[in-house]
Amino acid sequence: MIKVDISNVWGEITLPDLLNMEKDVAAAHATVMDGSGEGSDFLGWLNLPATEPTEEIRRIQAAAARIRENSDVFVVIGIGGSYLGPRAAIELLQGANHNIGKGKGDPQIFFAGNGLSTRAWNELCRLLESKDFSIAIISKSGTTTEPAIATRALRWMLERKYGTDGAKQRIFAITDPVKGALRQMASEEGWETFVIPASVGGRFSVLSPVGLLPMAVAGIDIMQVLRGAAEGKKAYDIRSFENPVWLYAAVRNLLYRRGKAIELLESYDPAFKMFGGWWQQLFGESEGKDGKGLFPVYAELTADLHSLGQMIQQGQRNLFETMIRFAPPTQTAVVGSDYKNLDGLNYLAGKTLDFVDEKAYLGTLAAHVDGGVPVLTMEMGELDDKKLGEMFYFFELACGVSAYLLGVNPFNQPGVEFYKRNMFRLLGKPGYEAN
Ligand code: PA5
Repeated sequence: MIKVDISNVWGEITLPDLLNMEKDVAAAHATVMDGSGEGSDFLGWLNLPATEPTEEIRRIQAAAARIRENSDVFVVIGIGGSYLGPRAAIELLQGANHNIGKGKGDPQIFFAGNGLSTRAWNELCRLLESKDFSIAIISKSGTTTEPAIATRALRWMLERKYGTDGAKQRIFAITDPVKGALRQMASEEGWETFVIPASVGGRFSVLSPVGLLPMAVAGIDIMQVLRGAAEGKKAYDIRSFENPVWLYAAVRNLLYRRGKAIELLESYDPAFKMFGGWWQQLFGESEGKDGKGLFPVYAELTADLHSLGQMIQQGQRNLFETMIRFAPPTQTAVVGSDYKNLDGLNYLAGKTLDFVDEKAYLGTLAAHVDGGVPVLTMEMGELDDKKLGEMFYFFELACGVSAYLLGVNPFNQPGVEFYKRNMFRLLGKPGYEAN
């Protein structure tokens, strides 16, 4: 079970404050689990954790095996909830540099359709020129502009390379079961499809085919991920402050009420960066509405101590930190001894890098707490495929509970449409002229 240590928030909140939250947290948790709140049509993510493979999961595993065999590169097209989860999973388990040295048998995985940068697009095209590749198009609505543009171009590239029939074997669509342009395109073109259940919103979809197909192509054991989530679902159903989900949701809500409007999630592992991005979207889109919400920001330590550190230590006292810790890796690295010792580092000779990292964490924690920043620590334990599933479920549940505590619907995102309407008007999209 993930452990949430709140011993460094007591300067800001008191035990009676926390205990007074008990009824509200219990009610928010019940609202998620009973489906009695706003947005309850979008609780399908509660049913995604699994202990046995379904027919769809077997098809995902079979498709992934084919892609691994016939592709040097697998391109995953999608944006927002149709992008961040799979990338977070792959980078957390395999590192940000997971593509180095890979090819057929264990393909490189790149992401497209998550922006409109010409440079990034041209870079991808150059990279694909001499490679065998396959694509997954992930879009629940099937109409999102960024992935739609990437889809059109990559699909044509595949058709030019392999012919229409050959391309069909290399295009996989992950979309709504019945609705939307992508569903229609996939049926018409005969592409293999996987379903994003209608009741699962984008940012809660990582344990659906959205996350599972890319993870399986990366060689991650998706059944272990789903089992980890299933164990999490059981473990985090406790209805008391013994539940770390309760502690996290209650403490961040109390801190928000005390003017700590920014939550800085931090990890000491660069591989966590995209998970931080996934978390940012999960909480940002779920809570940021009706003029409310904690602003979620991810920072990578110790690197960002040399950029944001000053602000955290002595800037405006409007933030708190949630520090993520994992158990030490089994493969260690040791600081060597140098007989000249010109860099003065011999006092660390023989110590593991992890030992140094631990001291950096403890030193940072003490400094920030002294500087008036409340800090929550999350001890994740050992990182593996199962833990990843547990973490996804943990944060999804914590997000649902937190948003209901705040009094907002966790499962809609009406604000996201505003920029799209302006963009469509500026682009001259039919139907948007008068907006
Ligand atoms: O969380 C969400 O719902 C959004 O971030 C969507 O996932 C994102 O806008 C992409 O939408 P779609 O999957 O319809 O292309």
